[in-house]
Amino acid sequence: MTSPSYTDLNRALWNARTGPHLASDFYAVEAFKAGRSSLNGIELALLGEVAGQRILHLQCHFGQDSLSLARRGAHVTGVDLSDVAIAAARGLSAELGVPAEFICCDVHALADHLPAAPGFDVVFMSYGVLNWWPDLTAWAALVRRYLRPGGRLVLVEFHPVVWMFDNDFTRLQYSYFNAGPIVETETGTYAKPSAAIEHQSVTWNHGLSEVVGSLLGQQLRLTHLGEYPYSPYNCFAHTVPNADGSYHIGPLSDKVPLVYSVVAVKD
Ligand SMILES: C[S@@+](CC[C@H](N)C(=O)[O-])C[C@H]1O[C@@H](n2cnc3c(N)ncnc32)[C@H](O)[C@@H]1O
Repeated sequence: MTSPSYTDLNRALWNARTGPHLASDFYAVEAFKAGRSSLNGIELALLGEVAGQRILHLQCHFGQDSLSLARRGAHVTGVDLSDVAIAAARGLSAELGVPAEFICCDVHALADHLPAAPGFDVVFMSYGVLNWWPDLTAWAALVRRYLRPGGRLVLVEFHPVVWMFDNDFTRLQYSYFNAGPIVETETGTYAKPSAAIEHQSVTWNHGLSEVVGSLLGQQLRLTHLGEYPYSPYNCFAHTVPNADGSYHIGPLSDKVPLVYSVVAVKD
């Protein structure tokens, strides 16, 4: 028997996570159905007015952000590896009467499912996406392929410094310059730690120069780079709420960045 590929392992992980996520307070699906947007202030400020824009949302999970963008008038195509998540996204779209297109595939195989022309106004990606890519050269090339001339990438991502720590934030476990795959066995999930699931994940840490350098290597023009000492999501150990509803990690205080953002334009 051949061992499963990292793609198979990660698909199994995300398929197993999706049910608990749909039932979690973290994703608050009932509030979302009632009209609450799942988008946060950082990405809303960077995206600006999206009505009428064609948006490619990579790694859309079960589609809450995709449908939040569609509710604001965007024409959204969401892409994800997990067939369970994409089925849920299509179900939410139909139930809510909010149209969006959803494609289930590995991002590396997107060219087999979606033509590059006429191109998107925005490629949007957020919170926990780049660590599933072994090679950011392939990522930046895909972003370039799907943007129309003048279109832009809007990326909001957890900061690579966060992934240097152990899960308890008591010690530095990984080098900032970590290059190889990180294989971990995960019990529960960030959105529902008590979920009775245990799966392997295969991820890669990418430093900021790797992210920015990959985009520059595709002649994408950087127009924004931001770093934030807080996370809009309560998805780490030892989080402490801030007055504005965001979180910091208690032992780290506001001394390290938890999130960064990038906007890059295809001229
Ligand atoms: C942390 S979630 C994205 C976060 C999203 N903003 C949210 O909060 O729901 C990461 C997503 O990446 C997807 N993913 C991982 N590897 C992928 C791949 N090779 N191709 C497509 N999607 C992938 C997973 O299925 C998962 O839905």
